[in-house]
Amino acid sequence: MSVNPIIVALDTTDVKYACRLSSQLSEHVGAVKLGLEFFTAHGSAGVREIAKTGMPIFLDLKFHDIPNTVAKTIRALSSLKVFMFTIHTSGGKAMMEAAAKAISETFLYDNPPSVVGVTMLTSLDEGDLKTIGMSDGISGQVERLAKLAQKSGLNGVVCSAHEIETLRKVCGPSFKLVVPGIRPEGSLNSDQKRVMTPREALRKGANYLVIGRPITEANDPVWAVKEIITSIAA
Ligand code: C5P
Repeated sequence: MSVNPIIVALDTTDVKYACRLSSQLSEHVGAVKLGLEFFTAHGSAGVREIAKTGMPIFLDLKFHDIPNTVAKTIRALSSLKVFMFTIHTSGGKAMMEAAAKAISETFLYDNPPSVVGVTMLTSLDEGDLKTIGMSDGISGQVERLAKLAQKSGLNGVVCSAHEIETLRKVCGPSFKLVVPGIRPEGSLNSDQKRVMTPREALRKGANYLVIGRPITEANDPVWAVKEIITSIAA
């Protein structure tokens, strides 16, 4: 495996804790994920603090706005040197194309970040979809949005482990699949309902595994990651 596929979700607003964990894990995982709560509390300065640990950053802010605003936001992101970030695919084709164009125009010399699309939030069930006027099932919707994301120039999507096989088939081998809801054998599911082990998700075709509590709440996070790496290689 050339790239370490583990992304640790640092779901916290505590900068010191996030820096400590990033430093501890920097030799063992591929990246850390920073989300809305961290960014709302600490903004770009907080992201730069974490970047100082040398850890690649997946900035999961799920941009969703008119094409012009999303494009300008992505240009503003260039000073942060994140390696991957998210936008909502339900923002539509023009918004996703504007995002892809902003990346190609902004990152002329640096390694451009990957932009991956959020299809359907996994907190929504079929009943929720009906209440917002979507009568198609979740799986059909996810597949349609992933195809649209690919056509619009996005590098991949965030998806549940149970969507990996279908999306790998319809979107091909080079489309990135970023997968949360991962649980190593024997760990607690917590509030995740449909989980999969790291090994199984990678075998099905995931590129990145987003793992939070099984690592961050372990007594020894480094040990927890090493166990995951061993289970993947087994
Ligand atoms: O602690 P846990 O491993 O469940 O954390 C998973 C991370 O992935 C959290 O940051 C969560 O917000 C995020 N996520 C998710 N399901 C999605 C999208 C993101 O669990 N569909």
